[in-house]
Amino acid sequence: MNYTTPHKPLDLGMTNTDFSRLSAFIYKHYGIKLPLSKKLMLEGRLHKRLKLLNLSSYKAYCDYVFSEDGQQMELIPMMDLVTTNKTDFFREAVHFNFLFEEVLPVLSKQLPVGKPFRVWSAGCSTGEEPYTLAMVLSEYHRKNTEFDYQILGTDISTRALNAAVTAVYQQEKVTPVPLSFKQKYLLKSKDPQNKTVRIVPELRSKVNFERLNFIEDSYSALQSFDAIFCRNVLIYFDRQTQESVIQKLCLQLKAGGFLFLGHSESVAQMDLPLVQIRPTIFRKV
Ligand SMILES: C[S@@+](CC[C@H](N)C(=O)[O-])C[C@H]1O[C@@H](n2cnc3c(N)ncnc32)[C@H](O)[C@@H]1O
Repeated sequence: MNYTTPHKPLDLGMTNTDFSRLSAFIYKHYGIKLPLSKKLMLEGRLHKRLKLLNLSSYKAYCDYVFSEDGQQMELIPMMDLVTTNKTDFFREAVHFNFLFEEVLPVLSKQLPVGKPFRVWSAGCSTGEEPYTLAMVLSEYHRKNTEFDYQILGTDISTRALNAAVTAVYQQEKVTPVPLSFKQKYLLKSKDPQNKTVRIVPELRSKVNFERLNFIEDSYSALQSFDAIFCRNVLIYFDRQTQESVIQKLCLQLKAGGFLFLGHSESVAQMDLPLVQIRPTIFRKV
């Protein structure tokens, strides 16, 4: 017979004090703002960590997070739960049309011979954005065989990055992918019961993934990019953090390179070396 330790029942919800400790830490180290209105959300997301660690209160969880062991062991799983990783293939599709129709014909001609076109999917979540980019850039390569490209995807969530590297998606997730792209770039499982698809090796080999925290890590170790997609990430930051992150992104963007932001993100009134080309598309001057 197997014996397991019974889970301790949770004695309390999260107190405002515990919430403040966690939210202040998350803001300071990851830039994510969590007003008090997000307390229930945070409680819900962290609940499974309490169960897994067999802790009976959020206070005990807080004490663990801020202990030496917790700082070593718990930050990655905690941030996997705190971050919102919602994403889609061909999300805000107008950006990919603009890239294909307007950016690539111009910038590909300016690339030094033998150098790839480099794109950064900054805040790439589970990989749908960088693999969409890979499909679009691969289409361009098929029409212009001398054109080569490389994509970097970065995120703070290790769980999201692992899913991105695996590159296996539920079939309903790939609904937005055009049929001709599905035929070229997605592999179906040999098992008809398995309703997943995998990105073809040809595209997977073009995308690298790294863990990068926009707030604490230096971006200067990365090479410079012809285009940066940083979409639906800045919404989690306050204005000051947004400005400092975009300034650092601009340092990694080549002169004449393009920055794509999410549809609800704005850089109005910020001191940046960018000109606006479309509502959420900017070019470095
Ligand atoms: C909503 S997803 C956006 C994914 C994709 N760019 C899109 O538009 O579909 C936001 C991503 O930003 C990441 N993120 C949040 N704070 C971060 C930080 N401080 N450093 C790096 N990534 C962060 C999250 O982990 C999450 O995967």
